[in-house]
Amino acid sequence: GKVRAPTHIISTISDDRGEEPCYAGVAMSSIVERGYGVGDVISLLWFKRSLPRYCTHFIEICIMLCADHGPCVSGAHNTIVTARAGKDLVSSLVSGLLTIGPRFGGAIDDAARYFKDAYDRGLTPYEFVEDMKKKGIRVPGIGHRIKRGDNRDKRVELLQRFARTHFPSVKYMEYAVQVETYTLSKANNLVLNVDGAIGSLFLDLLAGSGMFSKQEIDEIVEIGYLNGLFVLARSIGLIGHTFDQKRLKQPLYRHPWEDVLYTK
Ligand code: ACO
Ligand code: LMR
Repeated sequence: GKVRAPTHIISTISDDRGEEPCYAGVAMSSIVERGYGVGDVISLLWFKRSLPRYCTHFIEICIMLCADHGPCVSGAHNTIVTARAGKDLVSSLVSGLLTIGPRFGGAIDDAARYFKDAYDRGLTPYEFVEDMKKKGIRVPGIGHRIKRGDNRDKRVELLQRFARTHFPSVKYMEYAVQVETYTLSKANNLVLNVDGAIGSLFLDLLAGSGMFSKQEIDEIVEIGYLNGLFVLARSIGLIGHTFDQKRLKQPLYRHPWEDVLYTK
């Protein structure tokens, strides 16, 4: 019989050995002929299945509205400084991407983890928030540098409106909104931010689509797929900022002395 040499790599999401590449078993020609979009490709390569249109549309909305948020945010700032230092596209991009983390853009997974745990354990928003406070942990998905209770984030509103219309259930999102109502009663900057909105709504997408077992949902949340949405989305903007700086032939950036408090 055939002797199978042991392999060093296992891969389950794509196959390039045939005439055309396949993503999760779906041939590239089908992807093109069926008019699939980037949301479908993400479904195949990340979740290894074709998700219903409302889910792939939701993914695409997340990508579009996280693509950029101006030149002043951490990621764009780093990218701009790097591009102005004469570095190449990839260096400028990754310099911006490296700022994505627990404070900026990378709170989606933790928001999903904490909201899911609190909701599933039946904690009231008050119990959840006060419990986090006792532990000294900021609630991921809550708070923003410039958004306020009286100047909400339009992106959050757009996501919520889409989900309320198309999702079978938005129980996790409604829970996050109740948490926001409580945190806003403490301080005006403690709004549900775009990370918190995506984190809670993705829980609703996973649970409500009927396409994932409970175990699969736990695995997705535990591994942390969801920050990938922000990383992917913001790459679009960071690449744009790199081209913008190069186009404008901007010189080396140096931060002004006046804006530094030199002290001992
Ligand atoms: N949970 C509880 N309390 C909070 C939170 C929160 N998420 N955010 C702020 N506070 C309170 C704290 O009391 C904080 O005091 P502390 O420094 O003693 O903890 C006080 O508000 C003031 O906080 P600031 O540091 O002035 O708030 P800032 O405007 O700098 O922070 C930030 C904004 C970083 C987004 C913060 O709210 C936070 O850490 N949120 C959680 C992480 C998160 O969701 N990040 C994603 C933001 S959206 C995006 O990047 C696309
Ligand atoms: C973003 O999308 O980059 C932000 O919400 C962060 C910010 O400070 O505006």
